[in-house]
Amino acid sequence: MTRILITGASGLLGLNLSLMEIGTHTIIGLDRSKLADTPFELIRADLTEPGLFSRLIETVKPDAVIHTAANANVDSCESDPQGARYLNGELPGSLAESASKAGIRFVHSSTDAVFDGTKGGIYTEADAPNPLSVYARTKLLGEQMVLAANPQAIVARVNFFGWSLSGTRSLSEFFYNKLSSGEQCNGFTDVYFCPLFVGDLAETLVRMLDKGLLGLYHVVGSEALSKYDFGQRIARQFGFDEGLVRPQSVENSGLTAKRSHNLRLSIHKLSTDLGQSIPGISTGIEQFYTQLQQGYPQKMRSYQQVGDL
Ligand SMILES: NC(=O)c1ccc[n+]([C@@H]2O[C@H](COP(=O)([O-])OP(=O)(O)OC[C@H]3O[C@@H](n4cnc5c(N)ncnc54)[C@H](OP(=O)(O)O)[C@@H]3O)[C@@H](O)[C@H]2O)c1
Repeated sequence: MTRILITGASGLLGLNLSLMEIGTHTIIGLDRSKLADTPFELIRADLTEPGLFSRLIETVKPDAVIHTAANANVDSCESDPQGARYLNGELPGSLAESASKAGIRFVHSSTDAVFDGTKGGIYTEADAPNPLSVYARTKLLGEQMVLAANPQAIVARVNFFGWSLSGTRSLSEFFYNKLSSGEQCNGFTDVYFCPLFVGDLAETLVRMLDKGLLGLYHVVGSEALSKYDFGQRIARQFGFDEGLVRPQSVENSGLTAKRSHNLRLSIHKLSTDLGQSIPGISTGIEQFYTQLQQGYPQKMRSYQQVGDL
């Protein structure tokens, strides 16, 4: 049996990871204050507390850590570059170092946004990053600090969608919330990405651990599409009016941080080393739909700390 400590257990990736049924693995979720009565073991802590992580490792005795805690809000990072540098860059390096000293596997979640999007084709792990925003720069620093401190770590550049605790965290929820209320919404026609359903991402990260992979991997979906097309696919799957998704350029969006236009990432290294194919967008959107039918978002929200509702 493997004990896996998940940081950021209240987050989009962290909560889906923590709720995953993963055979013989035991999950311990680390959360600051948002969760209660979860079906997995919960530890309340702020990762920025000095010495906390080393103490946790001694008491919890995990075999592996999947680090998802971050400031993952691209625009809010612009107004707090120092805080973002610490949380997304320096802290992961020091956690990875502690894990290495204790002989514990460490998985760090990074982002496709480390690329500037100017390459004409698909980015591989060998391509040089050139981040455009504070968020992307601090995430790239995190990758570098993790691998320098712990060469046995996995650094996974991800992009994903699914249901979250707040019901508003993911792009898929943005489209679902707008379209289900009959509201128009904008989808960028000039941003291409490879989103992976969060359930598929969670399973893939655990398989990477089980398989003993290490180093830098692109862990995204196997198909690229524009954010506009993604919105249309959500509309079709749920039977909403596709015409409510309006085509827009990201350049006219008014978003604070600069975005890359091309985030097509190759998953060749991942699928080869795992010895299996990586799911595409159709099955992912179907699962997103099925989870709603099965009451998964409501189940998630039942683990929300009462004062936090
Ligand atoms: N969402 C995407 O599509 C996407 C794309 C590319 C990369 N990523 C990366 O994937 C990872 C997970 O992203 P996400 O979307 O799941 O993020 P998220 O939903 O914003 O969750 C972030 C988590 O980090 C926790 N956290 C923040 N500061 C903390 C601290 N000091 N101590 C303990 N926990 C702390 C938050 O806790 P609170 O709830 O208490 O604030 C929350 O649980 C991040 O590394 C992100 O950069 C995400």
